Amino acid sequence: MEKKTALIVGITGQDGSYLADLLLSKGYKVHGMLRRTSSFHTWRLEDLHAKYPEHFFMHYGDITDAPATFDLCDRVQPDELYNLAAMSQVRISFEIPKYTIETNTIGVLNLLEWIRQRSPKTKFYQASSSEMFGVPEVDPPFNEKTPMRPQSPYGISKLAAFHLTKMYAQGYGLFATTGILFNHESPRRGENFVSKKITQGVARIKAGLQQKLHLGNLEAKRDWGWAPEFVEAIYRMVQHTEPGVFVVATQETHTVREFVQEAFSLAGLDWEKYVTVDEKYKRPREVPVLLGDASGTEEILGWKAQMKFKDIVKAMVEYDMENIPVQNVNFDHYHR
Ligand code: NAP
Ligand code: GDD
Repeated sequence: MEKKTALIVGITGQDGSYLADLLLSKGYKVHGMLRRTSSFHTWRLEDLHAKYPEHFFMHYGDITDAPATFDLCDRVQPDELYNLAAMSQVRISFEIPKYTIETNTIGVLNLLEWIRQRSPKTKFYQASSSEMFGVPEVDPPFNEKTPMRPQSPYGISKLAAFHLTKMYAQGYGLFATTGILFNHESPRRGENFVSKKITQGVARIKAGLQQKLHLGNLEAKRDWGWAPEFVEAIYRMVQHTEPGVFVVATQETHTVREFVQEAFSLAGLDWEKYVTVDEKYKRPREVPVLLGDASGTEEILGWKAQMKFKDIVKAMVEYDMENIPVQNVNFDHYHR
C-alpha cells in the first residue's frame, strides 16, 4: 500500500516533534514547516534526518504567509495536515494580541482555505486548547458540551479557530477534526511554561547555578498530562471514520504549588527556601482551574491517559538534572 504523506505545521514544537516521531515510526512520509529564525531551533528533531533520510523533509514557511503556505501545501500534497502551529504562551498573548490572532486564527484559516480550494480530500487536525474554556459558568470537569468563556487573547484566538474548523467540516464536508487538549508536558516542553520553568529551576538550583525561582500564581490548577500520549490521541482522531471534537485530559487536577513541592522534593530541596512569588509573572486574567472530562474520547477512540502527575514531574526533573540548562529561565517575562 502507498505510504501516506503528512504535513506537520508546528513541527519544531513539543507536540510537533512527538507527532513526527510517531508518524515516521508508522512509515509515513513526514513534511514539516520551519520558520526562519536567526538561531537554529530544531533540537527536538535532531536525529530524524539521519534516521529517516527518505521520509523526513523540512521546508521554510509561516502560516500567516498565505501564498507561501499554499505553495508548500501544493508541493507536498498531504493526505493528512496537522496544524500544531501557534503562539502558544498564554501570558505573552496579552502583550502581543494581534500577532497571536494572526497566527492562531488567520493562520488556521489559510490552511482550511487551501484544503477547501485545492485539496478537499486532505484530512485536517486543528490543535484546540482547554484554555478556550476560560472561566465557564459551570463547575469542572469540562467536556465537549461545556460552554466556553475564554479569558486571554490566546484563548479567544483558539476559540475562533475551533469554530472555523467545525464550520469548514459542517459547511464544506471536509474532514476537519479538532482536539481540545488540556495541558501536557514532557522533557521537550517549551522553557517558558511553568512545568519546564520549575524543573529547569530545580536542576540549576541543585547544581548551584541559580539561587531563586521566581513564579506567579501558585494556586492555579491544571490537568497535566504526558505529551507523547496526547499526540497518540491526536493521531487516533485523524484515523477515526469522521471528524469531531475530542477532549483529551487526565481527569485529575493539581496546583502549581503541588508541582513545585513535588519537583523540589525529588531533588531533596525545601522549595520554600528557593521559590518567591513575583507579581510580574501573573496574568491580567487567570484561568484558575482546568480539569477535563475525557470520557467521550475514551468511548469513541479508546484512548485514556496513563501517565500520572507524579511520574510526569519525575520524568521532567530527571531529564533536566541530567541535562542542566546553561541559561537562567527566570527571564521568561520582559517588561514593556
Ligand atoms: P509549542 O512547543 O509552542 O510549538 C508551537 C509550534 O508552532 C512551533 O513549532 C512554532 O515554531 C510553531 N509556530 C508558531 N508560529 C508559527 C507560524 N506563524 N508559522 C508556522 N509555525 C509557527 O507548542 P506545543 O506545546 O507543541 O503545542 C502544540 C499546539 O497545541 C499549539 O497550537 C498549542 O497552542 C496547542 N496546545 C498545546 C497544549 C499544551 O499543553 N502543550 C495544550 C492545548 C493546546 P517555532 O519553533 O519556530 O517557534
Ligand atoms: N508560564 C508560567 N510562568 N506560568 C506560571 C508561572 C510562571 O512563572 N507561575 C505560575 N504560573 C501559572 C500560570 O498563571 C497558569 O495558571 C499555570 O501556571 C500554567 O501556566 P503555563 O504553564 O504557562 O500554561 P497555561 O495553562 O497558561 O497554557 C498551556 O496550556 C494550555 C492548555 O490549557 C499552554 O501549553 C497553552 O498553549 C495550552 O493551550
